[in-house]
Amino acid sequence: MEAISLYELTLKDSVVLQNKKRILSGMRPTGKLHLGHLVGALENWVSLQNEYENYHLIADYHALTTNLDTEELYQNSIDMMIDWLAAGIDPGKSPMFRQSQIKEHAELFMIFSMLITTARLERNPTLKDQVRDLNIENVIYGHLGYPVLQSADILLYKGNIVPVGEDQVPHIEITREIARRFNQQYGDVFPEPEAKLTKFARLPGLDGNIKMSKSAGNTILLSESPDEIKSKLKKAVTDPQKIRKGDSGRPEVCLVFTYHQKFNPTETAEIDAGCRSGALGCVDCKMKVASKISNYLNPFREKRMYYESHQSEVKEILKSGEEQAKQLAAQTMAEVRTAMKLG
Ligand code: TRP
Repeated sequence: MEAISLYELTLKDSVVLQNKKRILSGMRPTGKLHLGHLVGALENWVSLQNEYENYHLIADYHALTTNLDTEELYQNSIDMMIDWLAAGIDPGKSPMFRQSQIKEHAELFMIFSMLITTARLERNPTLKDQVRDLNIENVIYGHLGYPVLQSADILLYKGNIVPVGEDQVPHIEITREIARRFNQQYGDVFPEPEAKLTKFARLPGLDGNIKMSKSAGNTILLSESPDEIKSKLKKAVTDPQKIRKGDSGRPEVCLVFTYHQKFNPTETAEIDAGCRSGALGCVDCKMKVASKISNYLNPFREKRMYYESHQSEVKEILKSGEEQAKQLAAQTMAEVRTAMKLG
């Protein structure tokens, strides 16, 4: 009797599993992650873990567009994984893997590059933004093809949903176009994935820039100590009209206030009033939020320290994630070859 009900349970579970939609999320390994990554992406990944089947990609080929040092990219990948794990990505549920270890990415990328025009890729707004932001003088071929490789990343795992920031939406649009084009030509193989925008708006950087980013040098790293967080906040830009305590400030133009909204939500009314009246000085205001941010990162920091000192375990997790990802990638590629009559 008991054996039968157990059997039924497994059957039911596998049906539920099969019905789960699949998420493909990815990041380039640019090094240790910062608060903007946590708030803008990672927290979202973690909260979606139970509802969907997840694949987490380390886009080390994409990173080659701006950094050709593969040893550095490997260390960055491990550092990034440590942050993923510390944030709560569960390796038992969600494989994590490097793009470069799964040959099918390159194969599908090549096939997809036959299904899109260079004119379409030249119109890609993120290409223009990158060229401007990073002061790139000579655009390499890999830059132009960047969204085509990203399409291969997503479709190789038949991702239905891709959690991204707004800047990546044009790439998901290109992915949908390529999927449609392939399906038209060779028969239905791929889903048309959807972008899932992250809920929280971008976290501003310490210099007042709208986005926290490594290239702007305005970040708080997830691995930073409470003292480091304090000293970084000391230098944060505030309302330029509020020069000393007693001056009236405008919370709506102050990035420190945005941090209060996210990390100290119960005190925002008080902070707002104190800033406007002048009773609250910027230094006090900054120190208050610094300790809130430290508290917020406490559980994370502990887990991070564990993985930092158990890197061989991290590498094992990576290896097993890559084995799992390889299976699905090979299966999709076999379907592609059959559909294309490439045997
Ligand atoms: N282009 C993404 C970024 O810069 C990283 C990325 C590569 C990605 N492949 C992906 C994101 C696949 C989602 C899905 O943020």
